[in-house]
Amino acid sequence: MPASSPRPPPAAAPVAYTPGTVVARSYTSEMSAPPISAGVQRLREIMKENGEEAGWDKAWQEDVTPWETHDRTTDGVRPLLKEVLDSGEFPVPKEGRALVPGCGRGFDAVFIARLGLETWGIDLSTRAVERAEAFLNSQLDAPPNVHFQTADFLTFPIPQDGFTLAYDYTFFCAIPPPLRNPWGKRMTELVHPGGYLVAVAWPLDGEREGGPPYSVSVDAYEEALGVGRGLWTKVVDRPSELSADGVHKGRERVVVWKREGGARM
Ligand SMILES: C[S@@+](CC[C@H](N)C(=O)[O-])C[C@H]1O[C@@H](n2cnc3c(N)ncnc32)[C@H](O)[C@@H]1O
Repeated sequence: MPASSPRPPPAAAPVAYTPGTVVARSYTSEMSAPPISAGVQRLREIMKENGEEAGWDKAWQEDVTPWETHDRTTDGVRPLLKEVLDSGEFPVPKEGRALVPGCGRGFDAVFIARLGLETWGIDLSTRAVERAEAFLNSQLDAPPNVHFQTADFLTFPIPQDGFTLAYDYTFFCAIPPPLRNPWGKRMTELVHPGGYLVAVAWPLDGEREGGPPYSVSVDAYEEALGVGRGLWTKVVDRPSELSADGVHKGRERVVVWKREGGARM
């Protein structure tokens, strides 16, 4: 299939999303990480062979996208994102600009754009952005307010007024741990005070060897963001049973931070 062909969302294990079907279940340190799948093994080989930066584009070129095979709703979005936006746990911005870094095929950016925000999906991989544009164009009611661009999250020019909402799913866990502090500094620069960062924190199941995905913890996000220095306040942090395919179940948390007024120190 040519890189730019429209392609429907992955059919593997779609999950019907029903608001209000949350059953709390916590990660416990006794849980062991599941075995590395063939897709993740191949992804790691590609990264070793090509380096992380070129590796992502190569992975997209080879259609090695194992993160897309875990449970998502039929439009490709993680159930937890819809759940937390519907839950009333924080005031979801309806205006301004939203950012999905490492947007991949763009499912989340298209979904967030439908909330009314001008949404930017950025990805290091040109091929990912081609797939995202193809996905957008395959939508019957494609929202006009979503823009995809090939860019590095750590260096792309931040538009005036920044962003009012950012969504991180399988991006923090995709970057090598030495880039976590630059990730946090960047988030703090681009989400303006009063804005929100929504993250589905995964994988939380202890210390896996290597990556991607690299093991994460909520503390790791907070350390990188500077939560302890008052730059952000956590407003949501909980597990969700909506990760229902047995791969993510009990191994992820939905976390939302509000950007406070302080400048980055
Ligand atoms: C594991 S995939 C997740 C894609 C998408 N968030 C999803 O859930 O379907 C990680 C994505 O981040 C992109 N990426 C990695 N490093 C990046 C960077 N520094 N800036 C922007 N995108 C990056 C990769 O090209 C890849 O598409």
